[in-house]
Amino acid sequence: MNINIDKIRKTESSPKIIRNFINNDRINDLLSLYEKLPLTVHNKKQNVKKKRWISGFNKEMDKWYFDELKKIIGEFKMDNLLTENNEEILGLFQESYSPIGLHVDSGFDNTNFIYKQTLIPLTPFGSTVIFKNKFYKGSTNFTIDKDELSKTNLKYGQNSRSSEHLQLYGDKPFDNKIHKEFLAHEKIENLSGLEVECIFQWEVGSLLVFDRSHLHASSSQIKDKKIGLTTFTKK
Ligand SMILES: [Fe+2]
Repeated sequence: MNINIDKIRKTESSPKIIRNFINNDRINDLLSLYEKLPLTVHNKKQNVKKKRWISGFNKEMDKWYFDELKKIIGEFKMDNLLTENNEEILGLFQESYSPIGLHVDSGFDNTNFIYKQTLIPLTPFGSTVIFKNKFYKGSTNFTIDKDELSKTNLKYGQNSRSSEHLQLYGDKPFDNKIHKEFLAHEKIENLSGLEVECIFQWEVGSLLVFDRSHLHASSSQIKDKKIGLTTFTKK
C-alpha cells in the first residue's frame, strides 16, 4: 500500500475532460516528435508500440507541454520512468492495435506521492473507460487469466498481475450493456464489483485528467490503431 494514501486522497478529484486542449499545429508537432523518437517497447502479444518522450529532444516543446499541464493540474512533478541514462520522460506515446485490459497506473514506488495522469488522443477514434474503483498498491494488471497471473518474474517498469480486485469491490455482476459495447475484450467475470465513473470518447487534442488510483481500461472500440500520449505525475 502507498504510504501517502491519506495525502493522495486529499488531492483526488473527479476525472476532467478539456476539449481542444491543444490546437492542430501542436498535434502535428506531437505526431512528428512521435515519429522521430526511438521505439521503447513493441509488445507483440498486446499489439502495442510504446515510445518515451525523452526530455531534451525538443526543449521548446518540453517547456510548452509542462506549462500547459501545470495550468490544468497545478504544481506537479513528472513520474514517468527514467531512461537508462537518467533522462526525464515527459510522457509515453502508445500506438495500440488492440484494446488494453483492466489495470491501474499507481506507480512503481509506494513512497511516491502519486497525483494525476493525463491522456491526449492523437488519433480520432476510440475511448477509455475509467472506473470508480481505486487501488493504492503499485501499477497492476487485473486479470483472471492463469498464464498472466503466473507472471511474477517482472522487470522494473512492468505491472504486477493480480486478481485481488475481485476481493476488494464486491461481487456485483458488471453491467451487461456496457460490457458488450465497450469492454468486449474483457471477460465480464473480471469486471465484477466494478462501476464506471466515465467513458472518455477520444477526440484529437482533448485532454483527459484522472487520479492515478483509478482502475481503467481502453474500450474495445478501435479502428485499425490508435495513438495516445499519457503522462504520469506525482507531487
Ligand atoms: Fe493506463
